[in-house]
Formats: sequence, C-alpha cells, structure tokens
Amino acid sequence: MVLTKFMEVPMLPEKYKSMTFKEMENRIREIKSKLGDELFIPAHHYQRDEVFQFADTTGDSLQLAQVAAANKKAKHVVFCGVHFMAETADMLTDDEQIVYLPDMRAGCSMADMANIYQTEEAWIVLQQLFGDTLLPLTYVNSTAAIKAFTGRNGGACVTSSNAKIMVEWAFTQKQRLFFLPDQHLGRNTTYDLGIPLDQMAIWNPIKGQLEYEGNVENVKVILWKGHCSVHEGFTVSNVREVRKNYPDMKIIVHPECSREVVALSDDNGSTKYICDVIENAPAGSSWAIGTEMNLVKRLIAKYPEKHIISLNENMCPCLTMNRIDLPHLLWALEMIESGEKGNVIQVDANTTKEAILSLERMLACA
Ligand code: 13P
Ligand code: SF4
Repeated sequence: MVLTKFMEVPMLPEKYKSMTFKEMENRIREIKSKLGDELFIPAHHYQRDEVFQFADTTGDSLQLAQVAAANKKAKHVVFCGVHFMAETADMLTDDEQIVYLPDMRAGCSMADMANIYQTEEAWIVLQQLFGDTLLPLTYVNSTAAIKAFTGRNGGACVTSSNAKIMVEWAFTQKQRLFFLPDQHLGRNTTYDLGIPLDQMAIWNPIKGQLEYEGNVENVKVILWKGHCSVHEGFTVSNVREVRKNYPDMKIIVHPECSREVVALSDDNGSTKYICDVIENAPAGSSWAIGTEMNLVKRLIAKYPEKHIISLNENMCPCLTMNRIDLPHLLWALEMIESGEKGNVIQVDANTTKEAILSLERMLACA
C-alpha cells in the first residue's frame, strides 16, 4: 500500500517572525490580487480570525469538500484547515490544481487514531466474526489511506453534516456498520436513528480487540475507539454547571461530543448546523455552545444581541487547526508567488483512485 507522500516538515523561515501583522496582511492582499482566480483559499470554521478574514470561501468539512470538487479554475488551492481536509481537496480537484497546507504540522489527532495497518487488521478479525455483513463508513476526519480502504470495500465517507443520510444508506447495503474513526459521531448518529446502545460494539485498535458484552450476533454497529480531543473536553459537569447558572440557556453541541453530553443538551449538529441555529435564533436568546473555541468566539462577536458562551469556558482552541496562522499563510503565498513548490499535499494516484470512490458515494448522497 502506498501512502500519502509526507515530506520532511519544513519550518517557517525566520523573516516572518519579525514582520508586523499589518505588513503581513498587506503582503497577503497584494499576492491575492496579483494571483486573482488562480488562487483559491478555503478555510474551515475553526480557523483563527487572522486567517479566516482572507478566505475565499468558509465552511464545515462537507461544504469545503463540495467547493473543492466544484472549483476547476484555481491553479493553487491554499487550504486553511487540517491535513485530512487538504488531502480530500487534492483528491477532488484536477491533477493540474495544486493543494497547499500552510503548516504541514496541522494534522488532526482524531484522524491519527486510525492507521491503515490497524484498520486492515481489524477488518480481518471482523470479517471472521461477522462474515460479509459489514460495510465500512469513515468520517472524513481520516487519512486518505482509510478512505481508500473504505472505498474498495464498498463503503463511503461521512461528515457530521450528512452522517444520518449516510448511515441510512449504509444499512441499505449491509446489515452492519464499521464506523471509523470517531466513536462519538458513530454512536450519536446511529442512536438517533434508533439503534440501541447495547447493539453497538467498540473496536479497540490498541488491543486489536472487539469490546462487547453479550452475543455478537446482536451487534449492528462497530465503533472505532477514536475521539476528538477538543469535543471530548465538553463534559456532563459542564452541562450541569450551565443548567445551574443559566436555567433559561439552551445548550447546543457538536456530535463529536460524548453520548452523555449530547443526551443532556437541547440540540446537536454539525458545525454548519450550529452556525445556522445561532444565526436564526431570536435576539435576546441565550446559548451555550459545545464546539471549537475559534468558532464560538466568532459567533459571540458576530451576534452581540444574543447571549452566547462556550459550554466549557476553559476550553482551548483546536491546537492543530491553530497552527495555520498569518505568518504561515503568507509564507505559503510567497512560495507560490516565487514559483517555489513548498507545503504541497499530494495523495498518490492509487490511493486517490480508491479513496475517491468513498468520497463520491458521499457527495452523491449528501
Ligand atoms: P465538521 O466540519 O464536519 O463540523 O467537523 C468538525 C471538525 O472537527 C472538523 O475537524
Ligand atoms: Fe481533529 Fe477535533 Fe481538531 Fe477537528 S477539532 S481537526 S476533529 S482534533
């Protein structure tokens, strides 16, 4: 199996550390207007404001994948997000379009919780246990190699925006699901669709074991034991604290939060869903939001007429998303301007061929 080509991680040149914010912003504007339509900057909602302001389009994982698939104009796509998002953009764009990640260290700790070797090993054991009754579904927050595994085994990608649609589709294909790598999104989605918790097993990739008490014949869903370190940071005691301090406040969380937190909240949904709910909420309404801090802070600033807080005021932003900052964005753009090919994300052709199957199945249903 050939994996994504990882280059030695290049470090930010010293000169960017001595530039002022104003100087960097001016240079970014200059390069953007010089490159025009040849340059395209998509940014995820969790990006820092300093970077977000320069985005040509913003959105959640699904929207950014759809936009990448649709954009055939841009020669240079500078992806402000994390590694798996840039890989997805590379696979969905044409071969002549080049995708860059301003800081190659911007990975995702959840995606790193499932590697292809563990996944192949799990698949062998699960096939022995369940025969040909299983369909893999992978959250887009996974490596291109996992997407390829999913594609060649008849499965599809999901995002938090379309997980329900994709799970429903998956059950039209096979009796059981193997959901990677986020156990919480898998559990919350299948539970909402009526699958009881006692029909869900966990695959522990560290032990290489299925964790389930009871007769495995009853298992409908196998959840990879992975999680988002940001969303797992919202706890039941955070919910109780908000309920005590603000009895009228509504709590809305991302489905990457644990089942217990989702169950105690008033509403849950993808990043786009949360943005839409807050936008449409009446002035004077009050909200505690359980998702990434850069987004929560942006919503607080955008809607001063609504009372918005983070469900956990001590929460840090997603550290890997935060690696993309103004100096790294400018560095990526200056490399493009000078014709230097740095920080390029390129998934090899074989992996792309299989991974695209799982992405296209998702985009066809989404
Ligand atoms: P969505 O963009 O699908 O809401 O996912 C959130 C996330 O954690 C992205 O890394
Ligand atoms: Fe990964 Fe969670 Fe950060 Fe999203 S918020 S990039 S899932 S660690």
